[in-house]
Amino acid sequence: MNKYFNYQKGEGFIEGCPLSALAEKYGTPLYIYSEKTIRESVRRFQKAFSGIAPIIRYSCKANSNLRLLEILKEAGCGADVISPGELAITLTAGFTPKNIIMEGVGKREDEIKFGLKKGVSFFSVESLSELATLNRLASKQKREITALLRLNPDIAAGGHHYISTGKKENKFGLTEAEVISVLKNPAAFPHLKINGLHLHLGSQIDSPEPYLKAIKEAERLRQIYPFQFLDLGGGFPVRYDKEMAEIEVFGKAICGAIKKFDLPPHRASPARGEDIKIIFEPGRHFIAPAGFLLTRIIYRKDRPHKRFLVVDAGMNDLIRPSLYEAWHNIQTVREPKGKNNSFEIVGPVCESGDFLGKERLLPDTIKEGDLLLIGEAGAYGFSMSSNYNGRLRPAEVLVSGKKSRIIRKRETLENLTAQF
Ligand SMILES: Cc1ncc(COP(=O)(O)O)c(C=O)c1O
Repeated sequence: MNKYFNYQKGEGFIEGCPLSALAEKYGTPLYIYSEKTIRESVRRFQKAFSGIAPIIRYSCKANSNLRLLEILKEAGCGADVISPGELAITLTAGFTPKNIIMEGVGKREDEIKFGLKKGVSFFSVESLSELATLNRLASKQKREITALLRLNPDIAAGGHHYISTGKKENKFGLTEAEVISVLKNPAAFPHLKINGLHLHLGSQIDSPEPYLKAIKEAERLRQIYPFQFLDLGGGFPVRYDKEMAEIEVFGKAICGAIKKFDLPPHRASPARGEDIKIIFEPGRHFIAPAGFLLTRIIYRKDRPHKRFLVVDAGMNDLIRPSLYEAWHNIQTVREPKGKNNSFEIVGPVCESGDFLGKERLLPDTIKEGDLLLIGEAGAYGFSMSSNYNGRLRPAEVLVSGKKSRIIRKRETLENLTAQF
């Protein structure tokens, strides 16, 4: 669990805020974020990669809360957006269009037009038809529009087959043959500056090896055409149940490989590696450890074979356990004492797949009304939440030292019925 979660006199705190007081003030289920954790994660990442001074574009899909985006922007990040919705939120958060890249395997023409109208100049492109559309739309622009070609490199990476995106059986990217055809004849797209490759491989990648393979592939392709940008995507891991390589290990290996990066034959002047600009798009790594989901036990059901704790957060609030069989840390808010027993932590949704944790050891004295804290819930938690079963999305709260403030209101029944 994040180091900013700790017990003081038997009670759980995040940074300087007691969790029982947060539950009292804002209700449950409640997403809570630690500001210090976000800032430290970004700083540590910047330091680990300082050797190549990369452009960092936070991947908003991990969590697009406006206030969290403001913090990430202030910490030095640009943004990777996947939809007009994410673009609108990032612009509202104050990101400038030149620091935003628009991505996605299925951008509609009206969505590309929206991006162009809002001033976005960087697009990751995933099919030849999309490239032709972007070229046509770019012809009406006064500014230069840059396209990065997303290559599907057929590299295995990622913590679960749903979040592995760089294999040839995945829907993402252009094939190598398609990328080569464009790099050999960029003049076929006269209104675009074809100026880089995009190689996001997957999420929760547990070693630098897949990135190193991707760099090799990019180095090979750059012999055809001397593009300036190499976007290695996100994918940096978070410790849920397993130890993961520290970010410094990735930093050392990737910076080392980039510094040896070959110059294309027709470019002689700068030193090796100096004429390529690296872009990263971390999402999970920055925001997962900073977020927690606080939930209250509604019922305890002791059965001959299992003990269930039915809590007030469900798969609609945090779908990762149900969708990816993801493991999240679960702790009692009261400091655990005495003998443990094994519990199933389940939500109120009408699905047997609605669980947050299975076979978890918690104090046997645990009772209805007690609070549980679920860790590493900041990424793909709230952003994947839904109104399934007519449930209202939780509030989100930001903790900074001893202060807390609401950064997204709890949904109301009026919000739920307003669209009809
Ligand atoms: C293109 C792209 N970039 C970046 C990310 C962020 O990945 P992560 O949260 O693992 O850093 C994703 C996640 O799906 C993605 O699809």
